[in-house]
Amino acid sequence: MSDFPGPRPDPVTELLLAQAGELVAPVAVLDDVAGALSHQLEARGQQPRVWCDDVRAEQQVPTAWRRPSLQQAVTGARTVLWRLPRSVGAVQEYAELIAALADPGVRVIAGERDKHLSRSMNTALARSFGTVTASLGHRKARALLASEPIRREPSWPRRVRLEPLDLDVVAHGATFSGTRLDRGTALLAGCFDALPDAGTAIDLGCGSGILAALLARRGLRVQAVDVAWSATDATRLTAAANDLAVDVERRNGLAGRDAPVDLIVTNPPFHVGAAKDTTPTRELFAQAGRILAPGGELWCVYNAHLPYLPWLRETVGPTRIVARDRGYLVTRSVLTARDSPPTR
Ligand SMILES: C[S@@+](CC[C@H](N)C(=O)[O-])C[C@H]1O[C@@H](n2cnc3c(N)ncnc32)[C@H](O)[C@@H]1O
Repeated sequence: MSDFPGPRPDPVTELLLAQAGELVAPVAVLDDVAGALSHQLEARGQQPRVWCDDVRAEQQVPTAWRRPSLQQAVTGARTVLWRLPRSVGAVQEYAELIAALADPGVRVIAGERDKHLSRSMNTALARSFGTVTASLGHRKARALLASEPIRREPSWPRRVRLEPLDLDVVAHGATFSGTRLDRGTALLAGCFDALPDAGTAIDLGCGSGILAALLARRGLRVQAVDVAWSATDATRLTAAANDLAVDVERRNGLAGRDAPVDLIVTNPPFHVGAAKDTTPTRELFAQAGRILAPGGELWCVYNAHLPYLPWLRETVGPTRIVARDRGYLVTRSVLTARDSPPTR
């Protein structure tokens, strides 16, 4: 038995379990939320194999059930219970892997709340499964049921040349912005000629690793950090594709890290899982403020309507806007001496 109490099942967990009916082992659980599915399975006598892209979700699952890769979780699985990711690319990538590696008789029960589902997810599943049907709704959630796997060449991760940056980018289906250059990322990258002299840098929330790679190309010693495996692996692949050295770590922000760093760049998150939520961003800024070397700088790009300017001034120090376009701002915050209160 696990030591974790396990949360109350939410509507998606209830629906997936109801649709699964009699569970045939091995059972894989993908992208569980708060360990809810895993604990319900344990109560039914199963020992789930769990894979979560987000390290925060993984940490809510007892260690013995975790698998180090999606491949290892689904290989030979006869039942797959899956919280659908937000991006269709991720649905495609997972579906391709399940179809290639699971037992040929596998049943996939995949679901989410209605507001996060789209028809293109059915289409993405139908590329890799002969039969795909939708359940009736349950408390604003719905499940897609897939069986009869069709093995095909995996189409992820994908590599694309970003001509404006003279850089190859590699992304998984779930990586932020995929292989595309996000507008905010482009605006921040366009400011890099104005960066201060620095030896060490962190790309906080690295996604596909575009910013980390551009910093490494400028000769900085770069660490790239992200909560998502789909981001850290993409960053490793992007760095390798461009012959650049980037140290990559899958972790939740910078908590517990204490080596001072000269420069932090970030295009910070505005989602937690499927929900829009900027509150964790304030904590990321505070963590950045704690590990910057004296005089160190945080460069940030964000959507202009977000309340980040006062947060940056409060948690890091004097902050000014260095670039803007129709939607985004790039800010530069400087850490003043630690014992003096931040000024504007
Ligand atoms: C807006 S995206 C930016 C990605 C990339 N830097 C770019 O510009 O294309 C934000 C990234 O932050 C990551 N993230 C979210 N919360 C995080 C946290 N607590 N610690 C580290 N990374 C986080 C997300 O997984 C996502 O890849």
